[in-house]
Amino acid sequence: MRRYSPPAVAVAAFVLSMAAAGCDSGADGGDPAPADTTLAGLAAKHDLLFGTAFDANFATLEPGYRDILGSQFAVVTPGNSMKWDATQPSRTTFRYTNADAQVAYAEGRGMKIRGHTLVWHSQLPSWVSAGNWTKQQLMDILREHVQTVAARYKGRVYAWDVVNEPFEENGTRRQSVFQRVIGDDYIALAFQWAHEADPDARLYLNEYNAEGLGAKSNAVYALAQQLVAAGVPIHGIGMQMHVTETFYPSTNDLLVNMRRIEDLGLDVDITEMDVRLQLPATQTKLAAQASIYRGVLDACLAARNCRAFTIWDFSDAHSWIPSTFPGFGAALIFDEEYRPKPAYWAIRSALEK
Ligand code: XIL
Repeated sequence: MRRYSPPAVAVAAFVLSMAAAGCDSGADGGDPAPADTTLAGLAAKHDLLFGTAFDANFATLEPGYRDILGSQFAVVTPGNSMKWDATQPSRTTFRYTNADAQVAYAEGRGMKIRGHTLVWHSQLPSWVSAGNWTKQQLMDILREHVQTVAARYKGRVYAWDVVNEPFEENGTRRQSVFQRVIGDDYIALAFQWAHEADPDARLYLNEYNAEGLGAKSNAVYALAQQLVAAGVPIHGIGMQMHVTETFYPSTNDLLVNMRRIEDLGLDVDITEMDVRLQLPATQTKLAAQASIYRGVLDACLAARNCRAFTIWDFSDAHSWIPSTFPGFGAALIFDEEYRPKPAYWAIRSALEK
């Protein structure tokens, strides 16, 4: 086991494994690597999809980025291009330029696509959030959005984060425009509409800070229970897993939560994991980060209903953390030069078991 390999050895081993995998720096990314040398291939042996988010400008990025993106993952999530502000910037305009490019990229490599996200209070254009809507008007708008975007990718997006971040930290409903104007039912309606538009897609409710046990995860669980009881087409809970070196769920709490969700007949995916560090990132912090990734992956591997493990981009060169949380960074499993970090080796060693 090489859980915390010294960086120099780790880099050499990774470069060798990528070379053995036939990775190149071709214009459109590396050739698919032999399955058993990649994170995707190792995870497949556990019936687990290993994924990453990526952004639409991938084609212009460094060869190092393209090689890893093109070879290591079984599923990709467009980081921004399927959000409401991107897909429906005005009431009468639907726009899919970046989303279509990302879907085509993934399909060209046999990767699955996770759609993200149909209903969210953020990256929501002001024509929606600032409108003075009646309940019926906003229901019409929501239905049109959900059905149009889900139908666009029917049969191509295998899973959708239908509703994103509907709760506050204390477990009450977030007072988004949808909650305020439509009321509690907007969530069930969105799932129903998404299901009508793409009956084969797996439909998820996605949330952050609701991975372990607490008020917020209890609220997600209670809602899931209600939706299942009401026959709403929901198939899983997405656990975003944006955590820090000091704030993360224990493997045990995670597993307890995953298992109660399994008892409802629902899947549970890790959808956006990163572990942000207060900079500078020391070796000690990188080792702690590795064991946090490992603890989450261990829970996912132990839970029968955890089907996917997705990180929110893979290299510290392209992460949302530094601009959103000033002073934090180094949150992913490859460094800014695309060298594997201790977290990469910790993940690998869990998958190699
Ligand atoms: C982030 C993107 O990565 C950034 O590029 C963007 O500026 C803001 O949103 N939870 C989510 C994701 O569900 O959609 C967010 O993505 C990160 C937090």
